[in-house]
Amino acid sequence: MEPVRAHITVYGCQMNRLDGRLVADVLRADGACVVDVPGEANVLLYLTCSVRAHAEDRVFSNVGALAERKRAEPGLVIGILGCMAQQYGDGIRRRAPGVDLVCAPGRLAELPALLARARAGERVVALDPRRGEGGAEGFAGPDAALDRFGACRDASSDAPGRAFVRVMRGCDAFCAYCVVPHVRGPERSRAPGEVLEEVRRLAGQGVVQVTLLGQAVNAYAAEADGRRWDLADLVSGVAAVPGVERVQFITNHPRAMTPRLAAVLRDVPRVAPYLHMPAQSGSDAVLARMNRHYTAGEYVDRVAMVRAARPEVAVASDFIVGFPGETEADFESTLALVREVRFAGGFVFKYSPRPGTAAARRFEDDVPDEEKRRRHQVLLETVGRIAEEENRRFVGQRVEVFVEGPSPRPGLNRGGPGSTCRPDWVQLRGRTPGNRIAVFDGPPDLAGRIVPVRLVEARAVTLFAEWDGPASDR
Ligand code: 5AD
Ligand code: SF4
Repeated sequence: MEPVRAHITVYGCQMNRLDGRLVADVLRADGACVVDVPGEANVLLYLTCSVRAHAEDRVFSNVGALAERKRAEPGLVIGILGCMAQQYGDGIRRRAPGVDLVCAPGRLAELPALLARARAGERVVALDPRRGEGGAEGFAGPDAALDRFGACRDASSDAPGRAFVRVMRGCDAFCAYCVVPHVRGPERSRAPGEVLEEVRRLAGQGVVQVTLLGQAVNAYAAEADGRRWDLADLVSGVAAVPGVERVQFITNHPRAMTPRLAAVLRDVPRVAPYLHMPAQSGSDAVLARMNRHYTAGEYVDRVAMVRAARPEVAVASDFIVGFPGETEADFESTLALVREVRFAGGFVFKYSPRPGTAAARRFEDDVPDEEKRRRHQVLLETVGRIAEEENRRFVGQRVEVFVEGPSPRPGLNRGGPGSTCRPDWVQLRGRTPGNRIAVFDGPPDLAGRIVPVRLVEARAVTLFAEWDGPASDR
């Protein structure tokens, strides 16, 4: 049989993107080739988020559009992986009969074997145990196979110099709108020793920026060396690994934000002053229906606690507009929260009811789509305007940026104040300590390093900068 040439399309969050890289690594380790162009592949994999209906709809339409190619190339294997696979299981094939392989997030480590079966003509469905169906045992425990899966990642497969390290799986928060606790199962924290070992290995390969990932990462809890570890302990441990220059942790649940974690932000300079802590709404009534376990006032207090510890911390949020029963007054409360907290950035989503969630069962999706769109627009504008105002305060400052690589939209910076573009330079994209995007011109080999730049101009999502490189280089 021809060797596997897989193309992987990822829809969704950081967790999914990490899974996408792990899938690529695990396939490559098995001798497969991962290709960039779908037309060159004999295996098409869709790693799909189930958090909103949008990604699922796109996958169904992509797979539908492949019907003809599938007829022409009978050996072509189509797989749906990740949360969406767990959510619908075999049901996926009712809507997309061309799908050969369905694989849940907890089974991705088995992908080479599953793929071999699918290529031999079998229709393969590999799911995690369902939560509540004796599933907790299946999910629980040290989860050795998954940890090994995490550890096989190859530092070169992301931007050089940066790595995402999963520290926990699953979620127990059960926000009413959210499918994650249903598809990714209960919270399981990785052993701190495993995480630290992985970080040491990555640092040995040149990784300088580490992002710890968990759905509610600040709920991290483990027992090791005869004591309890929380995220504050783990972050301090990771920041102390030689070679690691910057540590971030996403995503934080406001309810689990502790003074200990704030103290780590204050005391450990290598911990980035960046906090992604979704507020979701500024209305207490909506927050209660969302099962978020805090009021807008408590959210503001948590932010104040963190800012008292580290004043320059950049707080970013997610918001959902059009949650069932959200009135104009509720929405105004969200705008008021944005004005009060002055977020450094925010993602805004229109509510979409997800099968199996409490919100979908209990509440009617009663905010008309047109109104959701309007609120989405207004909130995005408000968040963007404030982010831009905040960004402007940085103009003239020198900051250290982590250089991700060439800018995906080069040309933006051309002709900017003091631009010193040289023929051998390219436009680079970096991240400031607060995770803001900074673009600047410089030699491509800065990618993967943390370098000083001077910020010269600010827009809502982008800062423009000049590299502060060695004088001899300018
Ligand atoms: N509808 C809209 N947005 C949602 N999110 C999660 N579930 C839903 C849903 N059903 C958003 C939340 C979360 C982000 C990852 O996606 O804002 O923080
Ligand atoms: Fe979903 Fe809430 Fe868990 Fe985040 S904390 S993954 S929104 S249930």
